Amino acid sequence: MAETAQPCSVVIFGGSGDLARRKLLPALGRLAAGGQLDPRTRILGVARSTQLDDASYRELVAAALAAAKVPGEVVSRLKPRLSYQPLGAGRDGDFRALAGRLAELERADGGGENRVFYLALPPAGFAPAVTGLTAAGLHRSSGWTRVVVEKPFGRDLATAGELNALLHGGFEERQLFRIDHYLGKDTVQNLLVLRFANAFFESLWNRDRIEAVQITVAEDLGVGDRAGYYDQAGALRDMVQNHLTQLLSLVAMEVPEAMRSDAIHDEKVKLLRSISPIARGDVVLGQYAAGRIDGAAVPGYRDERGVAPGSRCETFVALKLEIDNWRWQGVPFYLRTGKRLGRRLSRIAIQFRRAPVCLFRSLGGCQLGCNILALTLQPDEGFDLRINVKRPGAAPELVQVPLAFRYRELVPELPEAYRLLVLDAIRGDRTLFVRDDEVEVSWRLYQPLLDDPPEAQPYAAGSWGPAAADRLAIAERALVEEG
Ligand code: NDP
Ligand code: BG6
Repeated sequence: MAETAQPCSVVIFGGSGDLARRKLLPALGRLAAGGQLDPRTRILGVARSTQLDDASYRELVAAALAAAKVPGEVVSRLKPRLSYQPLGAGRDGDFRALAGRLAELERADGGGENRVFYLALPPAGFAPAVTGLTAAGLHRSSGWTRVVVEKPFGRDLATAGELNALLHGGFEERQLFRIDHYLGKDTVQNLLVLRFANAFFESLWNRDRIEAVQITVAEDLGVGDRAGYYDQAGALRDMVQNHLTQLLSLVAMEVPEAMRSDAIHDEKVKLLRSISPIARGDVVLGQYAAGRIDGAAVPGYRDERGVAPGSRCETFVALKLEIDNWRWQGVPFYLRTGKRLGRRLSRIAIQFRRAPVCLFRSLGGCQLGCNILALTLQPDEGFDLRINVKRPGAAPELVQVPLAFRYRELVPELPEAYRLLVLDAIRGDRTLFVRDDEVEVSWRLYQPLLDDPPEAQPYAAGSWGPAAADRLAIAERALVEEG
């Protein structure tokens, strides 16, 4: 259950990093601007660098907030609440110094010992940070203590299990907040509202009415300057095991007993456990070659800065999943994601079964596609329900038209996912975070592919992936990608 935001210390490990500057600090700034943070909230940036101090950290944060268009008046208000603590080599003494600094800040303003430790660290930094926090006694306080863990959560089933065990060595599961930022997107949260607040959808949401489901997360960007991480990860680890699998869970899970964190997680885990082992023939991996995006030539993956020569890392995955339960038996779920695809588009397409008898042959009706509910998560967020109608006029013709809704009709701009996730962590609401068993069952599903991945096939940047992946898509794929 969410609490109101109490005064607390937000300790950001990796407080000078890209994620902190581009997402976390702006999220805190926007929360402060919206009056959603208690004014006594403190922010303590932590990193290894000994070059930074409170004054230079305040300037670093002020620049990040200004770049994110947080109003200057809010920045001035936050500045005195910001501090920096160097962690040096991260030895026990460094963590004890951190504990001392935190206690000193808390004593100075009497705001209490509520603490959020946000681990915005490279993967190698997670274990030392958790060990250091526990050894310095920072896993307990007279208030509450929460730990937010950024992705990637491990790199396979074994390492995810090890990280869970390490975290559980110091913290209880209820103190842990594993991030999947897709869960903080408004459009993703709306999946459950759409399903469970509209009885007619739920009554159609099964194998009797649905023929196939496609979940697409396409990016037009390439690997950018993240090759150091990405070349060791690939799209299966970076996108499929987490973001796409979370979307699948929300689309396919059963009705939870209540909209309570544990009830929702229970249903998600149950769903993930019902997925049949993925057949190797139902997986296509790809890697982008040179091509054109928006008319401009872009290099192939292997020519990107920081990518190992001859890298076999996949930048594209298409696969088919089958869910072996009463509701979904026989309905294919197609997952597709890639970098440097035709355009940026995250969309869930529900393809309904055709009318069993064709009464409209004379109107060309039997050539028409089936009904599709296309839920566009980004960009131009909204949804379209494509239905068949007769084109008005004498000529006998059926056409497909969308019943459409766009979120911009309700609000000028959708909030950033991190704003909500940071607030939920401060309020102690774990609904939009990933539970320990959920993360492990999801890794288990993909482990055989990670152990023995199929060869990644080249595709031209700007295309929709290797031709071999075409069969792993719903029949109305073009409509879904272009419409
Ligand atoms: P960066 O490399 O930009 O920043 C890493 C930060 O961590 C720096 O402040 C660095 O400072 C600090 N750091 C590194 N090692 C340690 C350590 N052992 N103890 C304390 N501080 C340390 O990485 P990002 O900010 O891009 O990414 C951080 C995490 O967030 C990663 O796990 C990434 O996968 C995840 N993430 C990032 C996204 C993004 O858009 N950037 C999106 C989604 C997830 P110093 O070197 O001085 O210690
Ligand atoms: C991150 C991945 O988790 O999600 C990135 O590491 C990817 O590779 C990003 O680009 C996509 O997020 P969004 O919110 O831009 O769709």
